[in-house]
Amino acid sequence: MSTAKQTMRVGIIGGGLMGREAASAFGRWFVLENFPVQAVLVAVCDLQDKLLDWFREVTTVRLLTKDHRELLRAPDVDVVYVAVPHHLHEQMYLDALDAGKDLLAEKPFGVDLKAARHIRDAAVKSGRFVRSSSEFPFLPGAQRVIQAARSGKLGRMLEIRSGFWHSSDLEPDKPVNWKRQTKTCGEIGVMGDLGMHVVHVPFRLGWKPIRVYAQLQKIYTQRPDGKGGMATCDTWDNAMLHTEIIIEGEEVPMRLEMKRLAPGETNTWFIEVLGTDGGARFSTKEPKTLWLFERGQEQRWQRIDLGHQMVFPTITGGIFEAGFPDCFLQMWAAYAAERAGQLGNRFGCVMPDEAVWSHELFAAALESHAKKTVAALH
Ligand SMILES: NC(=O)c1ccc[n+]([C@@H]2O[C@H](COP(=O)([O-])OP(=O)(O)OC[C@H]3O[C@@H](n4cnc5c(N)ncnc54)[C@H](O)[C@@H]3O)[C@@H](O)[C@H]2O)c1
Repeated sequence: MSTAKQTMRVGIIGGGLMGREAASAFGRWFVLENFPVQAVLVAVCDLQDKLLDWFREVTTVRLLTKDHRELLRAPDVDVVYVAVPHHLHEQMYLDALDAGKDLLAEKPFGVDLKAARHIRDAAVKSGRFVRSSSEFPFLPGAQRVIQAARSGKLGRMLEIRSGFWHSSDLEPDKPVNWKRQTKTCGEIGVMGDLGMHVVHVPFRLGWKPIRVYAQLQKIYTQRPDGKGGMATCDTWDNAMLHTEIIIEGEEVPMRLEMKRLAPGETNTWFIEVLGTDGGARFSTKEPKTLWLFERGQEQRWQRIDLGHQMVFPTITGGIFEAGFPDCFLQMWAAYAAERAGQLGNRFGCVMPDEAVWSHELFAAALESHAKKTVAALH
């Protein structure tokens, strides 16, 4: 294999919150050590002038447009990152594949199960490299929980908990936005918003629910529309999915939590795996803390301070704590490395099949909640 670095030229469609976060990752790509791929942001599409102006400051960007098809026609774009409202995913992802581009698709990979399957099938047919977004598993604490789960040393599994909590929606005066309305966010509501983050690690560990009982809540049904009036909020705010998985032939409970109204939790992603002999727990609430359980002569939870032990090493000092921009950069590094055939045994981004499984789970959760029964998954 040539030692010359491959260049991955990226176009962004949707330059809002996440589009700019991606630009920040490409802007400090050089912190990755001995990384085989160079990433360059070359084109951006958004409908808003003020956002296009923001991207004018990024010197590598050669094309700014309000028409995503113009971006897709650009021959110097290899990979497209699409970060737009959920009802636009399907069409834009299909357009990107039709244009012969590789794709990092924001979650939830389409507005519903039908869209997700459609995108997955088109991705397979196109032969393009397609992954979906979920960055928290790339944090050092999350990686250590994954390591513990794979160690075979936890004994018989007792339970798994995985969740993602937000709290800003507790504020009733927070204005409405597209994430609070079914027509733009999808009927799955908070599950579409936060669910991929919650299932990525369990799915990758082979923990796919066989049945689900869902508790879904809508708390605030109206919010200020930002123009002096009120607007309807009709998406699910909180979702608790009580599921069962099979580990080594035994049924194990797994609880998946997605909440927009979790008191005091600004952006808390967590995962916990508990067995009879050992366990592991990590939460972004304590971003450099790993908890490991061990049953010896005495039972003990050990608290370990983590530093900057990332999946892809960077120049950042080993004792420095990792944060959101770091795991987002790592996710992109995983995308670029896998696309270049250089991921090895490192953790990778969400695959199209996993995205479809997440939608199968959310669809079953809607059914469970509507009928107040347990829904089976196949
Ligand atoms: N990975 C994460 O941690 C994370 C966090 C937040 C959001 N997201 C996901 O990212 C996506 C975008 O969310 P966001 O928070 O950045 O939203 P946002 O509202 O901040 O940005 C969306 C952008 O899309 C633009 N847009 C809308 N229609 C368009 C069109 N036809 N052509 C071009 N641009 C268009 C809007 O002008 C806006 O700037 C969603 O899928 C969301 O679920 C992911």
